[in-house]
Amino acid sequence: MRMTILVTGGAGFIGGNFVLDWLAAHEETVVNLDKLTYAGNLQTLAGLRDNPRHLFVQGDIGDRALLAALLQQHRPRAVINFAAESHVDRSIHGPGDFIQTNIVGTFNLLESVRAYWQELPDAEQAAFRLLHVSTDEVYGTLGAADAPFSEQHRYEPNSPYSASKAASDHLVRAWHHTYGLPVLTTNCSNNYGPYHFPEKLIPLVILNALAGKTLPIYGDGQQVRDWLYVKDHCAAIRRVLAAGQLGETYNVGGWNEKTNLEVVHAICSLLDELRPRADGQPYAAQISYVQDRPGHDRRYAIDARKLERELGWKPAETFASGIRKTVQWYLDNDEWINGVSSGQYRDWLTTQYGA
Ligand code: NAD
Ligand code: TYD
Repeated sequence: MRMTILVTGGAGFIGGNFVLDWLAAHEETVVNLDKLTYAGNLQTLAGLRDNPRHLFVQGDIGDRALLAALLQQHRPRAVINFAAESHVDRSIHGPGDFIQTNIVGTFNLLESVRAYWQELPDAEQAAFRLLHVSTDEVYGTLGAADAPFSEQHRYEPNSPYSASKAASDHLVRAWHHTYGLPVLTTNCSNNYGPYHFPEKLIPLVILNALAGKTLPIYGDGQQVRDWLYVKDHCAAIRRVLAAGQLGETYNVGGWNEKTNLEVVHAICSLLDELRPRADGQPYAAQISYVQDRPGHDRRYAIDARKLERELGWKPAETFASGIRKTVQWYLDNDEWINGVSSGQYRDWLTTQYGA
Protein backbone atom coordinates (compact mmCIF):
# COMPACT_ATOMS: atom_id res chain seq x y z
CA MET A 1 0.00 0.00 0.00
CA ARG A 2 1.31 3.47 -0.93
CA MET A 3 2.07 5.63 2.06
CA THR A 4 1.26 9.05 0.64
CA ILE A 5 -1.87 11.11 0.08
CA LEU A 6 -2.19 14.26 -2.04
CA VAL A 7 -4.35 17.01 -0.54
CA THR A 8 -5.35 20.03 -2.63
CA GLY A 9 -6.34 23.29 -0.95
CA GLY A 10 -4.62 22.21 2.26
CA ALA A 11 -3.67 25.76 3.26
CA GLY A 12 -7.34 26.77 3.47
CA PHE A 13 -9.74 26.47 6.38
CA ILE A 14 -11.01 22.89 6.08
CA GLY A 15 -8.02 21.51 4.16
CA GLY A 16 -5.63 22.98 6.74
CA ASN A 17 -7.53 21.39 9.62
CA PHE A 18 -7.62 18.11 7.68
CA VAL A 19 -3.85 18.08 7.09
CA LEU A 20 -3.09 18.89 10.75
CA ASP A 21 -5.45 16.18 12.01
CA TRP A 22 -4.27 13.63 9.44
CA LEU A 23 -0.59 14.04 10.31
CA ALA A 24 -1.42 13.79 14.01
CA ALA A 25 -3.26 10.49 13.51
CA HIS A 26 -1.55 8.74 10.56
CA GLU A 27 1.93 7.63 9.55
CA GLU A 28 1.42 8.63 5.93
CA THR A 29 3.05 11.55 4.16
CA VAL A 30 0.87 14.42 2.92
CA VAL A 31 1.71 16.27 -0.27
CA ASN A 32 -0.19 19.55 0.05
CA LEU A 33 -0.88 21.41 -3.21
CA ASP A 34 -2.32 24.89 -2.77
CA LYS A 35 -2.33 27.97 -4.96
CA LEU A 36 -2.20 30.27 -1.93
CA THR A 37 -4.99 32.58 -3.02
CA TYR A 38 -6.11 35.16 -0.45
CA ALA A 39 -7.73 32.22 1.42
CA GLY A 40 -4.60 30.08 1.61
CA ASN A 41 -2.53 30.66 4.73
CA LEU A 42 0.80 29.01 5.49
CA GLN A 43 0.56 30.22 9.09
CA THR A 44 -2.13 27.57 9.60
CA LEU A 45 0.55 25.00 8.77
CA ALA A 46 3.36 26.69 10.73
CA GLY A 47 3.48 23.84 13.25
CA LEU A 48 4.41 21.46 10.42
CA ARG A 49 7.51 23.39 9.32
CA ASP A 50 9.91 20.72 10.58
CA ASN A 51 7.66 17.76 9.83
CA PRO A 52 9.29 15.61 7.10
CA ARG A 53 5.90 14.00 6.33
CA HIS A 54 4.40 17.29 5.12
CA LEU A 55 5.46 18.51 1.67
CA PHE A 56 3.96 21.83 0.66
CA VAL A 57 3.80 22.74 -3.03
CA GLN A 58 2.44 26.08 -4.23
CA GLY A 59 0.48 25.51 -7.42
CA ASP A 60 -2.85 25.33 -9.21
CA ILE A 61 -5.08 22.24 -9.50
CA GLY A 62 -5.56 23.35 -13.13
CA ASP A 63 -1.84 22.98 -13.92
CA ARG A 64 -1.73 19.58 -15.57
CA ALA A 65 2.04 19.50 -16.03
CA LEU A 66 2.54 20.16 -12.32
CA LEU A 67 -0.09 17.57 -11.36
CA ALA A 68 1.48 14.93 -13.62
CA ALA A 69 4.91 15.57 -12.13
CA LEU A 70 3.62 15.47 -8.53
CA LEU A 71 1.62 12.29 -9.08
CA GLN A 72 4.55 10.53 -10.77
CA GLN A 73 7.03 11.62 -8.13
CA HIS A 74 4.96 10.90 -5.01
CA ARG A 75 2.62 8.15 -6.26
CA PRO A 76 -0.21 8.88 -3.78
CA ARG A 77 -2.81 6.23 -2.91
CA ALA A 78 -5.48 8.93 -2.67
CA VAL A 79 -6.21 12.51 -3.69
CA ILE A 80 -8.51 14.65 -1.51
CA ASN A 81 -9.74 17.78 -3.29
CA PHE A 82 -10.49 20.77 -1.05
CA ALA A 83 -9.18 23.40 -3.49
CA ALA A 84 -11.90 25.86 -4.45
CA GLU A 85 -13.06 29.41 -4.40
CA SER A 86 -15.45 29.17 -1.47
CA HIS A 87 -17.12 32.46 -0.52
CA VAL A 88 -20.63 33.20 -1.82
CA ASP A 89 -20.29 36.99 -1.47
CA ARG A 90 -17.07 37.00 -3.50
CA SER A 91 -18.77 34.88 -6.18
CA ILE A 92 -21.43 37.60 -6.47
CA HIS A 93 -18.81 40.33 -6.90
CA GLY A 94 -16.69 38.31 -9.34
CA PRO A 95 -17.74 34.84 -10.54
CA GLY A 96 -14.83 34.32 -12.97
CA ASP A 97 -12.39 32.78 -10.49
CA PHE A 98 -15.14 30.38 -9.35
CA ILE A 99 -15.67 29.11 -12.89
CA GLN A 100 -11.93 28.82 -13.42
CA THR A 101 -10.97 26.94 -10.26
CA ASN A 102 -14.14 25.08 -9.30
CA ILE A 103 -15.10 23.93 -12.79
CA VAL A 104 -12.10 24.14 -15.14
CA GLY A 105 -9.66 23.37 -12.33
CA THR A 106 -11.63 20.30 -11.23
CA PHE A 107 -11.78 19.12 -14.85
CA ASN A 108 -7.99 19.40 -15.17
CA LEU A 109 -7.49 17.66 -11.84
CA LEU A 110 -9.76 14.80 -12.94
CA GLU A 111 -7.87 14.39 -16.20
CA SER A 112 -4.48 14.43 -14.45
CA VAL A 113 -5.63 11.90 -11.88
CA ARG A 114 -7.22 9.69 -14.53
CA ALA A 115 -3.97 9.52 -16.54
CA TYR A 116 -2.04 8.59 -13.40
CA TRP A 117 -4.60 6.06 -12.13
CA GLN A 118 -4.87 4.26 -15.49
CA GLU A 119 -1.16 3.49 -15.43
CA LEU A 120 -1.06 2.10 -11.88
CA PRO A 121 -0.45 -1.62 -11.34
CA ASP A 122 -3.71 -3.54 -10.69
CA ALA A 123 -3.57 -3.69 -6.90
CA GLU A 124 -2.75 0.00 -6.56
CA GLN A 125 -5.37 0.93 -9.13
CA ALA A 126 -7.98 -0.97 -7.14
CA ALA A 127 -6.98 0.72 -3.88
CA PHE A 128 -6.80 4.27 -5.30
CA ARG A 129 -9.43 6.91 -4.33
CA LEU A 130 -10.24 10.47 -5.37
CA LEU A 131 -12.38 12.19 -2.73
CA HIS A 132 -14.06 15.42 -3.82
CA VAL A 133 -15.22 17.80 -1.08
CA SER A 134 -18.40 19.67 -1.93
CA THR A 135 -21.21 21.60 -0.31
CA ASP A 136 -24.88 21.36 0.63
CA GLU A 137 -25.41 24.63 -1.30
CA VAL A 138 -25.66 22.60 -4.55
CA TYR A 139 -29.15 21.55 -3.39
CA GLY A 140 -30.47 25.12 -3.31
CA THR A 141 -32.67 26.42 -0.53
CA LEU A 142 -35.25 24.86 1.83
CA GLY A 143 -38.55 26.17 3.15
CA ALA A 144 -39.06 26.22 6.92
CA ALA A 145 -41.08 22.99 6.91
CA ASP A 146 -39.06 21.03 4.29
CA ALA A 147 -37.14 17.88 5.17
CA PRO A 148 -33.34 18.33 5.30
CA PHE A 149 -31.30 17.61 2.14
CA SER A 150 -30.72 13.90 1.53
CA GLU A 151 -28.32 12.60 -1.14
CA GLN A 152 -31.37 12.18 -3.43
CA HIS A 153 -32.32 15.86 -3.34
CA ARG A 154 -32.16 17.42 -6.79
CA TYR A 155 -29.44 19.93 -7.58
CA GLU A 156 -30.81 23.50 -7.64
CA PRO A 157 -27.83 25.82 -7.05
CA ASN A 158 -28.66 29.52 -6.70
CA SER A 159 -25.36 31.41 -6.44
CA PRO A 160 -22.37 31.52 -8.79
CA TYR A 161 -20.46 29.68 -6.04
CA SER A 162 -22.98 26.86 -5.62
CA ALA A 163 -23.47 26.54 -9.38
CA SER A 164 -19.73 26.12 -9.86
CA LYS A 165 -19.57 23.50 -7.11
CA ALA A 166 -22.57 21.68 -8.61
CA ALA A 167 -20.78 21.61 -11.96
CA SER A 168 -17.68 20.14 -10.32
CA ASP A 169 -19.79 17.42 -8.63
CA HIS A 170 -21.28 16.49 -12.02
CA LEU A 171 -17.83 16.23 -13.58
CA VAL A 172 -16.63 13.98 -10.75
CA ARG A 173 -19.70 11.79 -11.14
CA ALA A 174 -19.24 11.53 -14.91
CA TRP A 175 -15.56 10.59 -14.59
CA HIS A 176 -16.66 7.67 -12.44
CA HIS A 177 -19.47 6.51 -14.71
CA THR A 178 -17.59 7.01 -17.96
CA TYR A 179 -13.99 6.14 -17.10
CA GLY A 180 -14.44 4.13 -13.91
CA LEU A 181 -12.37 6.60 -11.89
CA PRO A 182 -12.74 5.54 -8.22
CA VAL A 183 -14.35 8.66 -6.77
CA LEU A 184 -16.17 9.60 -3.57
CA THR A 185 -18.04 12.87 -3.03
CA THR A 186 -19.00 14.52 0.25
CA ASN A 187 -21.51 17.39 0.50
CA CYS A 188 -21.26 19.14 3.83
CA SER A 189 -23.04 21.96 5.62
CA ASN A 190 -21.46 25.19 6.94
CA ASN A 191 -18.24 24.49 8.80
CA TYR A 192 -16.85 26.50 11.70
CA GLY A 193 -13.84 26.19 13.99
CA PRO A 194 -10.14 27.14 14.18
CA TYR A 195 -8.30 28.76 11.23
CA HIS A 196 -11.52 30.05 9.60
CA PHE A 197 -10.87 33.08 7.40
CA PRO A 198 -12.76 36.09 8.81
CA GLU A 199 -14.80 36.83 5.70
CA LYS A 200 -17.29 34.14 6.81
CA LEU A 201 -19.99 34.84 9.39
CA ILE A 202 -18.62 33.25 12.57
CA PRO A 203 -14.98 34.46 12.52
CA LEU A 204 -16.06 37.84 11.12
CA VAL A 205 -18.43 38.38 14.05
CA ILE A 206 -15.87 37.29 16.65
CA LEU A 207 -13.17 39.61 15.29
CA ASN A 208 -15.50 42.56 14.64
CA ALA A 209 -16.90 42.23 18.15
CA LEU A 210 -13.43 42.31 19.71
CA ALA A 211 -12.42 45.25 17.51
CA GLY A 212 -15.47 47.28 18.61
CA LYS A 213 -16.93 47.20 15.08
CA THR A 214 -20.51 46.51 14.03
CA LEU A 215 -21.74 42.92 13.59
CA PRO A 216 -23.40 42.92 10.14
CA ILE A 217 -26.58 40.84 9.84
CA TYR A 218 -27.85 40.44 6.29
CA GLY A 219 -31.60 41.07 5.88
CA ASP A 220 -33.67 39.89 8.85
CA GLY A 221 -31.07 37.44 10.21
CA GLN A 222 -33.60 34.59 10.12
CA GLN A 223 -31.71 32.55 7.50
CA VAL A 224 -30.87 29.07 8.79
CA ARG A 225 -27.57 27.18 8.43
CA ASP A 226 -26.69 23.72 9.79
CA TRP A 227 -23.38 24.24 11.59
CA LEU A 228 -20.71 21.51 11.47
CA TYR A 229 -17.57 21.70 13.61
CA VAL A 230 -14.61 21.43 11.25
CA LYS A 231 -12.90 18.61 13.19
CA ASP A 232 -16.10 16.53 12.91
CA HIS A 233 -16.09 17.18 9.18
CA CYS A 234 -12.46 16.06 8.90
CA ALA A 235 -13.32 12.84 10.77
CA ALA A 236 -16.18 12.23 8.34
CA ILE A 237 -13.85 12.65 5.35
CA ARG A 238 -11.36 10.19 6.84
CA ARG A 239 -14.20 7.71 7.35
CA VAL A 240 -15.55 8.09 3.79
CA LEU A 241 -12.04 7.75 2.38
CA ALA A 242 -11.50 4.54 4.36
CA ALA A 243 -14.84 2.84 3.78
CA GLY A 244 -17.06 4.77 1.34
CA GLN A 245 -18.64 2.99 -1.62
CA LEU A 246 -17.11 4.04 -4.93
CA GLY A 247 -19.18 6.52 -6.90
CA GLU A 248 -21.37 7.33 -3.88
CA THR A 249 -22.02 10.71 -2.33
CA TYR A 250 -22.32 11.29 1.42
CA ASN A 251 -23.97 14.26 3.08
CA VAL A 252 -22.16 15.54 6.18
CA GLY A 253 -23.99 17.79 8.64
CA GLY A 254 -23.92 18.81 12.27
CA TRP A 255 -27.65 18.45 13.16
CA ASN A 256 -27.28 22.04 14.35
CA GLU A 257 -29.77 24.26 12.57
CA LYS A 258 -29.51 27.84 13.80
CA THR A 259 -30.68 31.19 12.50
CA ASN A 260 -27.89 33.68 11.85
CA LEU A 261 -29.20 35.83 14.69
CA GLU A 262 -29.01 32.86 17.09
CA VAL A 263 -25.42 32.26 16.03
CA VAL A 264 -24.43 35.90 16.51
CA HIS A 265 -26.13 36.07 19.93
CA ALA A 266 -24.36 32.86 21.00
CA ILE A 267 -20.99 34.40 20.07
CA CYS A 268 -21.84 37.65 21.86
CA SER A 269 -22.82 35.79 25.05
CA LEU A 270 -19.59 33.80 25.06
CA LEU A 271 -17.53 36.95 24.56
CA ASP A 272 -19.49 38.68 27.36
CA GLU A 273 -18.38 35.81 29.59
CA LEU A 274 -14.82 35.26 28.37
CA ARG A 275 -13.70 38.80 27.40
CA PRO A 276 -16.26 41.33 28.69
CA ARG A 277 -16.31 44.77 27.09
CA ALA A 278 -14.44 47.43 29.04
CA ASP A 279 -17.59 49.59 29.25
CA GLY A 280 -19.66 46.71 30.68
CA GLN A 281 -22.08 46.79 27.74
CA PRO A 282 -23.06 43.50 26.01
CA TYR A 283 -21.44 42.74 22.63
CA ALA A 284 -24.96 42.30 21.18
CA ALA A 285 -25.20 46.12 21.25
CA GLN A 286 -22.86 46.05 18.21
CA ILE A 287 -25.38 44.13 16.04
CA SER A 288 -26.34 46.05 12.92
CA TYR A 289 -28.78 45.03 10.17
CA VAL A 290 -27.35 45.58 6.68
CA GLN A 291 -28.57 45.09 3.13
CA ASP A 292 -29.32 41.45 2.32
CA ARG A 293 -27.21 39.29 0.00
CA PRO A 294 -28.78 39.06 -3.49
CA GLY A 295 -30.40 35.65 -4.02
CA HIS A 296 -29.76 34.76 -0.36
CA ASP A 297 -30.70 31.10 0.31
CA ARG A 298 -33.12 30.96 3.23
CA ARG A 299 -32.33 27.62 4.82
CA TYR A 300 -29.82 24.77 4.51
CA ALA A 301 -30.09 21.56 6.54
CA ILE A 302 -28.41 18.22 6.02
CA ASP A 303 -29.82 14.75 6.53
CA ALA A 304 -26.62 12.92 7.53
CA ARG A 305 -28.27 9.57 8.26
CA LYS A 306 -26.68 7.72 5.34
CA LEU A 307 -23.20 8.42 6.67
CA GLU A 308 -24.22 7.29 10.15
CA ARG A 309 -26.06 4.18 8.96
CA GLU A 310 -23.50 2.97 6.43
CA LEU A 311 -20.20 4.19 7.85
CA GLY A 312 -20.94 4.80 11.53
CA TRP A 313 -20.02 8.52 11.56
CA LYS A 314 -21.80 11.14 13.60
CA PRO A 315 -20.63 14.51 14.88
CA ALA A 316 -18.97 14.64 18.29
CA GLU A 317 -19.65 18.34 18.96
CA THR A 318 -22.91 20.09 19.73
CA PHE A 319 -23.20 23.71 18.62
CA ALA A 320 -22.75 24.83 22.24
CA SER A 321 -19.48 22.90 22.69
CA GLY A 322 -18.12 23.71 19.21
CA ILE A 323 -18.82 27.43 19.32
CA ARG A 324 -17.21 27.72 22.78
CA LYS A 325 -14.04 26.02 21.47
CA THR A 326 -14.08 28.27 18.43
CA VAL A 327 -14.47 31.55 20.34
CA GLN A 328 -11.74 30.46 22.76
CA TRP A 329 -9.45 29.60 19.83
CA TYR A 330 -9.84 33.10 18.38
CA LEU A 331 -9.13 34.62 21.80
CA ASP A 332 -5.94 32.54 22.09
CA ASN A 333 -4.48 32.99 18.60
CA ASP A 334 -3.56 36.63 18.06
CA GLU A 335 -0.61 35.80 15.85
CA TRP A 336 -2.71 33.92 13.30
CA ILE A 337 -5.38 36.63 13.37
CA ASN A 338 -2.87 39.45 12.85
CA GLY A 339 -1.49 37.48 9.90
CA VAL A 340 -4.84 37.31 8.08
CA SER A 341 -5.93 40.87 8.84
CA SER A 342 -3.74 42.21 6.00
CA GLY A 343 -4.33 45.04 3.55
CA GLN A 344 -5.99 42.64 1.09
CA TYR A 345 -8.48 41.55 3.75
CA ARG A 346 -9.27 45.17 4.65
CA ASP A 347 -9.87 45.88 0.94
CA TRP A 348 -12.47 43.09 0.90
CA LEU A 349 -14.26 44.50 3.95
CA THR A 350 -14.52 47.87 2.21
CA THR A 351 -15.83 46.24 -0.99
CA GLN A 352 -18.46 44.24 0.86
CA TYR A 353 -19.48 46.42 3.79
CA GLY A 354 -18.41 49.93 2.69
CA ALA A 355 -16.11 52.21 4.65
P1 NAD B 1 -11.05 28.08 1.77
O1 NAD B 1 -11.46 29.17 0.83
O2 NAD B 1 -10.74 28.41 3.19
O3 NAD B 1 -9.75 27.34 1.19
C1 NAD B 1 -9.60 27.01 -0.17
C2 NAD B 1 -8.13 26.70 -0.40
O4 NAD B 1 -7.97 26.33 -1.79
C3 NAD B 1 -7.22 27.90 -0.17
O5 NAD B 1 -6.09 27.51 0.59
C4 NAD B 1 -6.82 28.34 -1.56
O6 NAD B 1 -5.52 28.92 -1.62
C5 NAD B 1 -6.88 27.02 -2.32
N1 NAD B 1 -7.10 27.18 -3.76
C6 NAD B 1 -8.01 28.00 -4.35
N2 NAD B 1 -7.93 27.88 -5.69
C7 NAD B 1 -6.96 26.94 -5.94
C8 NAD B 1 -6.44 26.35 -7.13
N3 NAD B 1 -6.88 26.72 -8.33
N4 NAD B 1 -5.49 25.42 -7.02
C9 NAD B 1 -5.02 25.05 -5.78
N5 NAD B 1 -5.46 25.58 -4.65
C10 NAD B 1 -6.44 26.51 -4.71
O7 NAD B 1 -12.20 26.99 1.66
P2 NAD B 1 -12.69 25.94 2.76
O8 NAD B 1 -13.73 26.58 3.59
O9 NAD B 1 -11.52 25.31 3.41
O10 NAD B 1 -13.43 24.89 1.81
C11 NAD B 1 -12.78 23.72 1.34
C12 NAD B 1 -13.73 22.96 0.47
O11 NAD B 1 -14.91 22.64 1.21
C13 NAD B 1 -14.21 23.76 -0.75
O12 NAD B 1 -14.28 22.90 -1.84
C14 NAD B 1 -15.58 24.26 -0.35
O13 NAD B 1 -16.41 24.42 -1.49
C15 NAD B 1 -16.06 23.12 0.53
N6 NAD B 1 -17.05 23.51 1.55
C16 NAD B 1 -16.76 24.45 2.49
C17 NAD B 1 -17.71 24.77 3.46
C18 NAD B 1 -17.44 25.76 4.56
O14 NAD B 1 -18.32 26.00 5.40
N7 NAD B 1 -16.25 26.35 4.65
C19 NAD B 1 -18.97 24.15 3.45
C20 NAD B 1 -19.24 23.22 2.45
C21 NAD B 1 -18.26 22.89 1.53
P1 TYD C 1 -21.27 32.57 5.21
O1 TYD C 1 -20.40 32.35 6.41
O2 TYD C 1 -20.80 33.51 4.16
O3 TYD C 1 -21.60 31.13 4.62
P2 TYD C 1 -22.65 30.70 3.44
O4 TYD C 1 -23.07 31.89 2.69
O5 TYD C 1 -21.81 29.77 2.62
O6 TYD C 1 -23.77 30.00 4.15
O7 TYD C 1 -22.68 33.08 5.73
C1 TYD C 1 -23.44 32.33 6.66
C2 TYD C 1 -24.76 33.05 6.83
O8 TYD C 1 -24.51 34.31 7.46
C3 TYD C 1 -25.44 33.37 5.51
O9 TYD C 1 -26.85 33.24 5.68
C4 TYD C 1 -25.06 34.82 5.25
C5 TYD C 1 -24.99 35.40 6.65
N1 TYD C 1 -24.01 36.50 6.83
C6 TYD C 1 -24.42 37.69 7.45
O10 TYD C 1 -25.59 37.83 7.86
N2 TYD C 1 -23.51 38.69 7.60
C7 TYD C 1 -22.22 38.57 7.15
O11 TYD C 1 -21.44 39.55 7.29
C8 TYD C 1 -21.81 37.35 6.52
C9 TYD C 1 -20.41 37.17 6.03
C10 TYD C 1 -22.75 36.33 6.40
